[in-house]
Amino acid sequence: MDTIIQAKKLSKQYAQDENRVTALKEVDLEISRGEFTALMGPSGSGKSTLLHLIAAMDRPSGGEVLVLGQDLRALGNRALARWRNAHIGFIFQSFNLIPVLTALENVALPLKLTQLTAKEQIEHAVTALQLVGLGDRVHHFPRQLSGGQEQRVAIARAIVTDPDLILADEPTGNLDAASADDFLGLLSALNKEHAKTIVMVTHDPHAAHFAGRVRYLDKGVLLPEGQVPQDWIPPHVRAVPLAANPVFGSAGQP
Ligand SMILES: Nc1ncnc2c1ncn2[C@@H]1O[C@H](COP(=O)(O)OP(=O)(O)O)[C@@H](O)[C@H]1O
Ligand SMILES: [Mg+2]
Repeated sequence: MDTIIQAKKLSKQYAQDENRVTALKEVDLEISRGEFTALMGPSGSGKSTLLHLIAAMDRPSGGEVLVLGQDLRALGNRALARWRNAHIGFIFQSFNLIPVLTALENVALPLKLTQLTAKEQIEHAVTALQLVGLGDRVHHFPRQLSGGQEQRVAIARAIVTDPDLILADEPTGNLDAASADDFLGLLSALNKEHAKTIVMVTHDPHAAHFAGRVRYLDKGVLLPEGQVPQDWIPPHVRAVPLAANPVFGSAGQP
């Protein structure tokens, strides 16, 4: 199988005041082309850190990470930024759209670094917006869109360069349930119909259901496949009294 992400003993420490915070400890991870993986784990377990290292948005303190066969350590900062723009689509929890640009302009932004003509850039951006169902909102500004629509613009921006890999950090965290389902349906279609490899950090077990595979981080350690952190109770379950909860309410009953 075609390995698209390969991390070996990947580690990250942050210097904070006098202390060093170990965010990631010797993570070994392999993800194949076409997989849809959910990364879960408690707050502070290193999920965003791992995603940022894969996205070439930050550099590891130790170990190595190969993405699409590229050793990210081998690239200087400019080359890294270009590589990221060409190969990674990143979706943030808070959408990160630029408020003074229209949906079309936001989506076209990653194309500025490509060889496409201005006309082609607009055509590609319109196509991406149509794909996410926003063909009739191209000239709207972010403030004129709902949260769900803003996140769909963010998807369009993430796919406009036709990247192989889409990374999303708690992308449904600011969406209502219906918008989250729309979003996850779109992500799923990108995976199944457009063969995009997806890694999504999420707190939400419902969101994780859309993924083919779930991996857990705990205190910077990537747990073996199938293992969840001790005392792990998903946040949405915690909010409901245990006895009234459909997951735990029947626990212990025959
Ligand atoms: N820029 C940073 N500087 C210092 N510490 C950081 C930084 N980013 C993250 N951390 C620390 O690294 C650990 C992992 O953080 P993070 O990857 O954001 O976790 P998660 O996404 O799972 O909530 C946490 O203890 C966090 O406080
Ligand atoms: Mg995080």
